[in-house]
Amino acid sequence: MNILVLNGPNLNLLGKREPSIYGTETLSDIEERINRHCENKGISISFYQSNHEGDIIDRIQEADGKFDGIILNAGAYTHYSYAIRDAISSISVPVIEVHLSNIDAREQFRSTSVIAPVCKGRITGLGSLGYLLAIDYFCYSQI
Ligand code: DQA
Repeated sequence: MNILVLNGPNLNLLGKREPSIYGTETLSDIEERINRHCENKGISISFYQSNHEGDIIDRIQEADGKFDGIILNAGAYTHYSYAIRDAISSISVPVIEVHLSNIDAREQFRSTSVIAPVCKGRITGLGSLGYLLAIDYFCYSQI
């Protein structure tokens, strides 16, 4: 099974970015945790992070036919990028929306996700565990 983990803007700053909200793990720490979680599960995992909307859209489009699932933390684009939403609904690969923080318990603007209606599901507020749970969902859904 091929899974793509896609992280959006400012997630490259994890570890030093608002640690009281996002924790102290860096993006590399999280990717390492995901790799360890995938060991011996027959999963091939790819990672990509970009601060640019168009890059994220390119990756989503290119994933069609190549990946069995996408785990997407679109960062702030979650709240207003109709272009990312349209990219997700243009492909047949299931996408799980993940957020480290609980977006429903923060500023009002964060409780709107324009991508949620076109995603398979959403995991929010469980920190980096959210990525691992999304992987478990893809494993479970293959059985
Ligand atoms: C985030 C939540 C977003 O509101 C924010 O803009 C981010 C990170 C999260 O993982 O909690 O960049 O997606």
